Amino acid sequence: CGIVGYVGKGDCVPYLVEGLQRLEYRGYDSAGVAVVKNGALRVHKAQGRVREMAAGLPKRMSGPVGIAHTRWATHGPPNDLNAHPQVDAEGRLAVVHNGILENADELRAELVADGVSLISDTDTEVLAHLIARSPEETLEERVRAALRRVVGAYGIAVCDAAAPDRLIVARNGSPVVIGIGDREMFVASDVAALVKHTQQVAYLDDGELATVTIEGFRTSTLDRRPTIKEPHAIAVAEQDYARGGFAHYLRKEIADQPQSVAGTLRGRLDHRFATARLDGLNMTPRELRAFRRVKILGCGSAYYAGIGGAQMIESFARLPADAEPASEFRYRDPIIDPETLYVATSQSGETADTLAAVHEIQAKGGRVIGLVNVVGSSIARGAEGGIYLHAGPEVSVASTKAVTSTLVGFALLALLLGRVRDAGPAAGERLIAALEKLPAQIDDILAREDAIAELAGRIAGSQTAFFIGRVRGHMVALEGAQKLKELSYVHAEAYPTPELKHGPLALITPDVPTVAIVPSDHLLDKNRSSLQQVKARGGPLVVVGHEHPGEGLADELLLVPRSEPELDPILLGIPLQLLAYHAALHLGRNVDQPRNLAKSVTVE
Ligand code: G6P
Repeated sequence: CGIVGYVGKGDCVPYLVEGLQRLEYRGYDSAGVAVVKNGALRVHKAQGRVREMAAGLPKRMSGPVGIAHTRWATHGPPNDLNAHPQVDAEGRLAVVHNGILENADELRAELVADGVSLISDTDTEVLAHLIARSPEETLEERVRAALRRVVGAYGIAVCDAAAPDRLIVARNGSPVVIGIGDREMFVASDVAALVKHTQQVAYLDDGELATVTIEGFRTSTLDRRPTIKEPHAIAVAEQDYARGGFAHYLRKEIADQPQSVAGTLRGRLDHRFATARLDGLNMTPRELRAFRRVKILGCGSAYYAGIGGAQMIESFARLPADAEPASEFRYRDPIIDPETLYVATSQSGETADTLAAVHEIQAKGGRVIGLVNVVGSSIARGAEGGIYLHAGPEVSVASTKAVTSTLVGFALLALLLGRVRDAGPAAGERLIAALEKLPAQIDDILAREDAIAELAGRIAGSQTAFFIGRVRGHMVALEGAQKLKELSYVHAEAYPTPELKHGPLALITPDVPTVAIVPSDHLLDKNRSSLQQVKARGGPLVVVGHEHPGEGLADELLLVPRSEPELDPILLGIPLQLLAYHAALHLGRNVDQPRNLAKSVTVE
């Protein structure tokens, strides 16, 4: 979900609508706006896209103070009533909220017992009533009192007709950023919404609340202790969010990869010592050498990239490493080992499950670093150090360039960990040389788009597809299947290649294509025999690899340039992004905003 707010001299409505459009990738099943003017509150909201909501905005709806929201449904189905802003019984106070209040049912029952009638299914409406009914005098105190009663995660913005010069914002687990302008102030859940207007921002911390007026803002904790916020300049510019000449953000982000990979590498390759310079880790070589294991945590595509990262670290640095879905981690009461380096990986840096894993590790005394794209995000700030991807903003819901840059980030970490341990300078140089070649090699793959698009047309006609790969190729298969599913809605499943024969082979028929990841490594011969098993059942076979893996075996070949084996997953994944993109185009899907999904999932 996305939050936007404005306090200033002009009319807030155009800013709010434009801000929502910039945040729409965070959720897009309903949207709404609330404005305070001349001591009255007006609200307009609707199911559907921001542009549909905006088209229905009453012409006369304007004012100097307002809040707005774009929603990804958690409580209650997407409809007009459940859309935010949610208002109190008198329609004088409005709340927009990201997150989930865990004790909403209890509080709702209390309100009902007190004679309040609630009209939506949302937890947010409960909060609106609690604030409005608080006996405290000021809006800030009323919000504070209400928040002290709720359990759960929130980022909120509140406006009130009775306090027409201000917004109150608060955060616990879901991001809120304040943008500082010249006698106008902006509020958002993501800098994307305000970067056009200001580069000066302040991020709220968990448990903090702020009153925002035209003059500025004042922050304090829920127990009334004032806090000090140093505003700082954000690194992204408005043009970083432009779609350029591309039809979709996804296509633009795929095309960005030679530059985004170069961004991840910039300033980090040290030829003199044949190593990586990762100053953001805030760890000495001695501290790094002391780790006995690496554990990577992430969700969705970030988790898949983590699997690739673990393999790079294990094979180059010879340090045991594995990846695990962050969403499961804390619920198995994990043993946190002081000799393990934990790495939380997340494009947005805001994924609630990944952030919770960071907290779990820290609460048990572990050391965790971030591998994150968004500068200043919660995970980046929460971890003790980290590696920023510097891939530029990723807007399309399905991740592409961030996955690639995450793998590159892990390669840098593997390089550094290897060099502080046993890897010699020649091994370091070998990896550095291969990393430097990546941008041009990605260009090479992108130049083969036409052939991939043609193949995608055929895959789009299938009911289901298998993606298989061994060891390094397995992560590529997982991510390739994920891209196809989320973009085209064609069902796909990924398996380690040799596992196919232990069950799923039963499903292989001439109508079920298999995409096999077959780099020309030491497993090439093993792969050949597995592919024979698919061919023998008449299954169409697409091979992604380096060279012809066997005469007459593959029906289609998608070739990528050779790299060093550790880095193979980086290039092998790129044709599969294009494959999924073109399959989605073929089927007329909403490429940038697939149904039911959101870019950044800040709820559990
Ligand atoms: C959402 C997105 C996925 C993404 C995952 C993790 O589910 O739809 O594309 O991989 O979150 O996001 P993160 O920002 O933590 O990398």
